[in-house]
Amino acid sequence: MTTLSSHDPGAHERLDAGITELAAYRDPERHGWTREVFSTPYRESRQWTAARMRDAGLEVFTDPAGNIIGRLEGTNPSAPALVTGSHTDTVDGGGRFDGIVGVVGAIEAARQLRESGTQLSRDLLVVDFLGEESNVFGLSCLGSRAAARELTAADLDRQDYRGVSLGQAYADFGLDPTSLTDVQWARKPLHAFLELHIEQGPTLEQRQLPLGIVTAITGIERFIATFSGSADHAGTTSMTDRQDAMIAAAEAVLAVRREGCGAPNHGVATTTRVESESRSPNVVPSLVRMMSEVRSVDTDWLGGVKGRLTSEILVKAGDYGVDVGFDWSTDNEVVQASPGVQDVVASAADILGIPWMPIPSGATHDAVHMASLAPMGMIFIPSKAGKSHCPEEWSDTRDIATGVTALVSTLKALDSAELSRTTATS
Ligand code: GLV
Ligand code: MN
Ligand code: MN
Repeated sequence: MTTLSSHDPGAHERLDAGITELAAYRDPERHGWTREVFSTPYRESRQWTAARMRDAGLEVFTDPAGNIIGRLEGTNPSAPALVTGSHTDTVDGGGRFDGIVGVVGAIEAARQLRESGTQLSRDLLVVDFLGEESNVFGLSCLGSRAAARELTAADLDRQDYRGVSLGQAYADFGLDPTSLTDVQWARKPLHAFLELHIEQGPTLEQRQLPLGIVTAITGIERFIATFSGSADHAGTTSMTDRQDAMIAAAEAVLAVRREGCGAPNHGVATTTRVESESRSPNVVPSLVRMMSEVRSVDTDWLGGVKGRLTSEILVKAGDYGVDVGFDWSTDNEVVQASPGVQDVVASAADILGIPWMPIPSGATHDAVHMASLAPMGMIFIPSKAGKSHCPEEWSDTRDIATGVTALVSTLKALDSAELSRTTATS
């Protein structure tokens, strides 16, 4: 694979050290590197991130949404700022690179700019966004969503399985839920947003390419379905007389899979959780909940998913005499990356001699929400065997350093680029 080392030999050591040190903040009760939003290890890791930003020469503050922001002053601080960053929370049982590469890499990029005496004309803001991963409230990208003023009062009322609201979780974390819909720094115009991230899929590795330039980010539709049947004796109720909520849910799990398999261009569909209220093995299950999601960069197809799946699941459940209630939510719509930012990344990579390919993202990112504030782009680096959201997630330091090199050059080029502000959810 062609790679390009950073010009600074210390960069590899700093990137390695950053990823290793951050990995120490993990929930010892869970497998992998678990650092979920609002958890104790996450809270403790926030201090590490702020300290690392300060060490790189950034002026650090935290916004009311809990995003940690490191500022590298430009020659004209009143000009719309350039923003780069990602997240440091992980999924349950997650890895050490998803999001972390984009925060540790952005801090390293800012350090390299400062230490090389390169002063941009505008401020560079390096951000560690609060809670990017979809959480127990079924909502991803909390920090960037709030920054884009897309976090709603209804979102704050969402409840987890214990009945705790998202607003309460913010309050318990020491953040004021009433200020989340009015985040100050994001109200200023921004020049561009660029996120460095691991691919989380196998394409770059398979094609032996060190860089991907993201074209679009997947939309996500989620639902919780509640299946209500009848509790009956599992030994005496004949197979034909049952209203078994579990069987209706099982049919629904397969219907979700069929939906993903039937996508004409790109589509994936996953059921992550099926829970029965019945605890005794000798009772026909009467109440079952399932949690599923469907993703695609194909807006037309994704737009039809809710109608198709709802009716298919209802019909199948009806065959078993089971009722179904649905709670559908759109985590995010499909978002296109800014063509202007893609061009700037591509020409920076070409000048550096880094081969690249255009690539859609099947994972969601903070960039989705930042796209409503500024022209948005993303740079992907390879993931070993495409593994992500699991402990085996891995990206080589030389690939991360190549990504940082591309990030630094792109930030410099973006500083003086004229960018169209038309950003699209398509
Ligand atoms: C975040 O990684 C997501 O795609 O859910
Ligand atoms: Mn991520
Ligand atoms: Mn993730």
